[in-house]
Amino acid sequence: MGEKCTISDLSAAKAASRKFAAVSCYDYTSARLVAETPIEMILVGDSASQFMLGHNSTLPVTMDFMVAITAAVRRAAPGVCLAADMPFLSYQVSVEEAVRNAGRFYQQADVNIVKIEVAEAHLPVIKAVSDAGMAVMAHIGLRPQSIAKTGKLKAEATGAVAAMELIRLSEKMNDAGESMILLEGTAREVAKIITEKLPVPVLGCGSGPDCDGQILVLPDILALDAGPIPKFSKQFGQIGSEINKAVSAYSKEVQDGSFPDDDHSYHIKTGELSKLQGLLKTERS
Ligand code: KIV
Repeated sequence: MGEKCTISDLSAAKAASRKFAAVSCYDYTSARLVAETPIEMILVGDSASQFMLGHNSTLPVTMDFMVAITAAVRRAAPGVCLAADMPFLSYQVSVEEAVRNAGRFYQQADVNIVKIEVAEAHLPVIKAVSDAGMAVMAHIGLRPQSIAKTGKLKAEATGAVAAMELIRLSEKMNDAGESMILLEGTAREVAKIITEKLPVPVLGCGSGPDCDGQILVLPDILALDAGPIPKFSKQFGQIGSEINKAVSAYSKEVQDGSFPDDDHSYHIKTGELSKLQGLLKTERS
């Protein structure tokens, strides 16, 4: 990618009815590969908690961890529009902490936007982060950081009243200053209404085809994880089984002695081996 992609480019895409694709990824090596594709946005999602650290929810990841991995992704992908996920407890305690933590992503990881999982109670956070001059993406619909309260992750806005509430919430987030919105696990009919109503780009994750952009996590796209993937997700390659094949082949060659061979070895300079043997002889006598 040549020029750095920004939120204005994604707004222009919406205005031109051009869909854009984003992925969640969490490390330098995979972000470098993603940056070589036409992907316009990378989100360093708090799903890193499951995919990188093996936890069973997004709750355990901290600001320090998220800032470190986001900065690594930025080093790998200087041209993408980079979003960072504000982790659990980085914005719920106070508006001041939220602004300071959002600012860390800008100062230490050069992001274009921060994403915050929000309910009505977080409107002042969206406003304060936006008023401080930062772009903020309101994440509504299914919100994995609320798992302790909701008990399970399920599709949102599947009834008329809940749908109306979500539409109203999206409008309030817009009035509070969001620059983008992420709709997760939302009924596609409702996602379509929100996408048509809002002036900002709407990024969909499991919210049907009518959103302005789509996001999936890279481990799902690549089939890196052995477990089942959500209904809305899709595997576009079988890289997990390719990794398994490659590592098994390596292990076999180490065991049968065919790796490393002479071609994969360094050599002592010409004439130095006989000198070394002389030195070893002198040492023994
Ligand atoms: O954490 C994450 O990767 C996300 C996406 C699934 C939208 O929030």
